[in-house]
Amino acid sequence: MTVSDTSPANDRVVIFDTTLRDGEQSPGATMTHAEKLEIAELLDDMGVDIIEAGFPIASEGDFRAVSEIAQRSKDSVICGLARAQYADIDRCWEAVKHAKQPRIHTFIGTSPLHRAIPNLTQDEMAERIHDTVTHARNLCDNVQWSPMDATRTEWDYLARVVEIAIKAGATTINIPDTVGYTAPVESADLIRRLIAEVPGADEVIFATHCHNDLGMATANSLAAVAGGARQIECTINGLGERAGNTALEEVVMALKVRSDIMPWHTRVDTKKIMHISRRVATVSGFAVQFNKAIVGKNAFAHESGIHQDGMLKNAETFEIMRPEDVGLSATNLVMGKHSGRAALRDKLRQMGVEVGDNQLKDIFVRFKELADRKKEVYDDDILALVTATTEGAADRLQIVNLRVVCGTGGPAEAQLEMEIDGKEVSASAQGDGPVDASFKAVRELHPNAARLQLYQVNAVTEGTDAQATVSVRLEEDGMIATGQSADTDTVVASAKAYVNALNRLLVRRDKVGKDVKEISYKDVS
Ligand code: KIV
Ligand code: ZN
Repeated sequence: MTVSDTSPANDRVVIFDTTLRDGEQSPGATMTHAEKLEIAELLDDMGVDIIEAGFPIASEGDFRAVSEIAQRSKDSVICGLARAQYADIDRCWEAVKHAKQPRIHTFIGTSPLHRAIPNLTQDEMAERIHDTVTHARNLCDNVQWSPMDATRTEWDYLARVVEIAIKAGATTINIPDTVGYTAPVESADLIRRLIAEVPGADEVIFATHCHNDLGMATANSLAAVAGGARQIECTINGLGERAGNTALEEVVMALKVRSDIMPWHTRVDTKKIMHISRRVATVSGFAVQFNKAIVGKNAFAHESGIHQDGMLKNAETFEIMRPEDVGLSATNLVMGKHSGRAALRDKLRQMGVEVGDNQLKDIFVRFKELADRKKEVYDDDILALVTATTEGAADRLQIVNLRVVCGTGGPAEAQLEMEIDGKEVSASAQGDGPVDASFKAVRELHPNAARLQLYQVNAVTEGTDAQATVSVRLEEDGMIATGQSADTDTVVASAKAYVNALNRLLVRRDKVGKDVKEISYKDVS
């Protein structure tokens, strides 16, 4: 993609994904370096136009992630976030400059409440905007500027600063609804009025960036497009702080399915949606709610008798999009122990998952193990296996073997063997049930003060032989890490998820130890 492809006259909407920046910032959603690289590659491969890869000045880890994503980028523009400060912008440029197509995104809060934080007058802030956008533009010819909390900024002041940013060289003007306050009619009108009244507005692309506090992020984003915006900012699964951001899968599929009334298209390969959704849920630890539009487990399930009857006669009776359009294979059935490697690769392709030969080999081994334990292996089981083979190789703590004895006659007892930093160790512990006993055994071998914030079990598919996915969120000294695992044995999945979360805490601890300080994009000064 080139920037000229995104001219406002075009009927294409540019998709700007901020899963790795706005999404990753939500407490508990922290991803490891390797996970960020993997998600960025999936986004690039699925046709996302712009990837906001992080906030480079926030920490050494963010800087490294953004610059490595930039170096590995293929077709996507790689963008970094910077506050309205020269040091932020310079650091951002250092990270993104390796990309084939780099972008600097700089912002400042312009509403009365946000102006009060750095204690700037309107004139002082206007001057800061002029100077910082000019500085960014001197480094990079693709500059995005955002007036944070735009939807609660006085109209006159918003129009004034947008004009200043355009004159200073911004090529994209993003209008954030930072607190999810606006409504569709207002969202469309605001963009329409800015384009109509701000001098120079026809030279730039307007973007919309919505949060979902009132459940209107998707509607507000699409309304903004109707008002003239040609870039939607969004995250996979709507990941993001509080109620999250606009969900990529929702706006992309809405534009596809209702092209009759919304004549704008995106470049996204929708068949890759389900796989990346599952990966983001796993690495962020934020499970997708069952009835979530497009990617929820029930989004294509038809259970009531009337629905099933209609579906059998004609799928369009109750289906406005086909499961295969979002990467669920047409038949959500069924692989078994006689299925071969070629069939598995084919199934993965139908779900938009491309894997190399080595990973296919690993997935196949796990698939055979699973098929031995479970009669029917469904799409979701297979996606869970992909996840399992992407995890863990470099983990410092690994479970080698776990045996648990439990029943009604007394406490449960877990016997656990682990490998810790390459050394085999073992312990046993008693607990109030098998999960408690297993966690205690882990703590025997790896003493820690992490507090359990969340323990959640979901069945991937139906039946008593279903795989369980378990999420465990831990907190230690203000650091939060989430681990996940899947297994047909719920206790084993629980212990692995707990160990997975501990591994992530170790990574975070190392990272913070090395950083001078971690800052948030909300530390506006
Ligand atoms: O929500 C918001 O205002 C943001 C800005 C940094 C663009 O995420
Ligand atoms: Zn945001």
